[in-house]
Amino acid sequence: MSNVLNDSSVNDSSVNDSSVNGNIIFIGFMGSGKTTLGRKIAKHFGRLFLDTDLLIESRENMEILDIFKQHGEKYFRNLEREISELIQNSIRNSIIAVGGGFPTAVSSLQKLGFVIYLDIDFDFMISEVKKHPAELEKRPLLENLDEAKKIYDFRKKIYKSQADKIFTINHNNYEIIVDEVINFLKNIKEFE
Ligand code: S3P
Repeated sequence: MSNVLNDSSVNDSSVNDSSVNGNIIFIGFMGSGKTTLGRKIAKHFGRLFLDTDLLIESRENMEILDIFKQHGEKYFRNLEREISELIQNSIRNSIIAVGGGFPTAVSSLQKLGFVIYLDIDFDFMISEVKKHPAELEKRPLLENLDEAKKIYDFRKKIYKSQADKIFTINHNNYEIIVDEVINFLKNIKEFE
């Protein structure tokens, strides 16, 4: 495996350059498949897979839902910014799925790596997530679907502005998207 964690040979100027840190960052709304896709891509290329939600849950020893309930969203966004620093300073050559709101908390994602936005239609996403009630329950911001749609519309432009590359998810055949992403990554210099 070619992951280099805490590589002291990486100097500070290279840390800010996504073309040398080798990370791929998946962004997109809740339920767009960042984790599912990220895991498959990581396995294919033999890279480390990280998920910022899981890192936050480990750090806090608490589930996201409970962090929101006990400490509120602002506290959670601060944790996302902390994790962003950690990725920027210490993580190389990895595949990283970030929470749906992460690009709103962290303004310059390209410092962390090459950014791929998984653009999913809202109604399609809801129909998919509803098939797995546990997935719906663990996401506090999907409790009220009218509010969730407003957040979705607001975030879309943020996702687009942060993305180096966009893949549209409009069907549930993730294997096709996985192949598309793999072929794309094989041909970019940021992922060597
Ligand atoms: C959130 C998305 C969730 C999680 C938290 C908040 C958001 O991650 O970080 O519930 O603000 O969109 P996923 O995108 O992995 O569901």
